[in-house]
Amino acid sequence: MKDAHTPDVLDASMIADAQAVEHYEIARYGTLIAWARQLGLNDAAGLLQQTLEQEYMPIRSSLSWRRRSSIVRRLKH
Ligand SMILES: [Fe+2]
Repeated sequence: MKDAHTPDVLDASMIADAQAVEHYEIARYGTLIAWARQLGLNDAAGLLQQTLEQEYMPIRSSLSWRRRSSIVRRLKH
């Protein structure tokens, strides 16, 4: 437990928290898009779709994956 507050652990925790938030937002935008389409609000659905795609960017970003892999590697040693 003495390593629980090292910079690497804090970085890994912040990345995990940020990814959890992004997934929460993605779930909500997906629901809003479905509701907008059901209501015939196609313009709103299109705008929500654009926002949804922006939410995926940090998750897909190779930089964040590389950064996370680097942190996990450091934690193992
Ligand atoms: Fe977001």
